[in-house]
Amino acid sequence: MAEEKSCSCETEKEQRRRELTLKANVSAIKKKILVLSGKGGVGKSTVSTNLATGLAKKGYHVGLLDIDIHGPNIPNMLGLQGHSPLVTDMGLFPLKVFDNLQVISIGFFLEEKDTPVVWRGPLKHRMIEQFLSDVRWGELDYLVVDSPPGTGDEIISIVQLLDNVDGAVIVATPQEVALADVRRSIKFCKEASIPIIGIVENMSGFVCPHCGNTVEIFKTGGAEKLAEEYKVPFLGKIPVDPQIVKAGDEGKPMMIYFPEAKPAQAFAQVVEKITEKLKV
Ligand SMILES: Nc1ncnc2c1ncn2[C@@H]1O[C@H](COP(=O)(O)OP(=O)(O)OP(=O)(O)O)[C@@H](O)[C@H]1O
Ligand SMILES: [Mg+2]
Repeated sequence: MAEEKSCSCETEKEQRRRELTLKANVSAIKKKILVLSGKGGVGKSTVSTNLATGLAKKGYHVGLLDIDIHGPNIPNMLGLQGHSPLVTDMGLFPLKVFDNLQVISIGFFLEEKDTPVVWRGPLKHRMIEQFLSDVRWGELDYLVVDSPPGTGDEIISIVQLLDNVDGAVIVATPQEVALADVRRSIKFCKEASIPIIGIVENMSGFVCPHCGNTVEIFKTGGAEKLAEEYKVPFLGKIPVDPQIVKAGDEGKPMMIYFPEAKPAQAFAQVVEKITEKLKV
């Protein structure tokens, strides 16, 4: 009996400790940004990577947290696959891309990168909680959270754990089917009282490298119109560009390795708008 009592006491103590460190860690973050989309594959991880590197390039202290438990792409996009964060008695230290850009992803903790993760909601919640309570982020100007598509368990957990998210960046592609999903993301933000920083229209037009003409592969301007309709800010258009795929696959973020390239300049304008809206 006595043994049982002390055991549950320990668990309560541990839980209390976790809650306190989580609170302290979260309060050391000035602005928390959630990158969302209603649909998969529209470019959330690409936008998150370029947003985080773009903010770091401007000198801000940035954390990038990848909560896409089923498809963590951030380690690859930053060339960090195979690396592991340092675990000490003091906690878990995020991987540093630069002194002012730190990253945590479930991808760092998977033994086999191709192994699918089959977790139910409570386990995902616990993992995300640990990313905030046990990780030594230190003081951050911005925390950028890359999320899985839709509004499932992971998003609900992070919104709850961060207490208040300062804003959401919604990523959309221009075609109609994708736009129906954007409406759902907007509705979710309104219901969860998350301010919408704005919508990014990704894969918007393709400039032919041979003739210079723009080809509207997935149409263009749809997300911009939707932003107008819902009276939410429009943050800009990112073209379809093979350099984006190459940069992502090679783990060389455009904002750092190819800052002069057109898509990098489009990302830079998005970053500029976000820092204007969310000043630290
Ligand atoms: N503007 C673009 N032009 C060309 N390719 C792009 C562009 N944006 C993203 N991509 C490519 O599309 C693929 C999907 O992008 P990304 O992984 O960022 O999407 P996602 O929304 O995070 O996907 P998921 O929902 O699976 O997490 C990647 O290979 C990426 O390099
Ligand atoms: Mg992704």
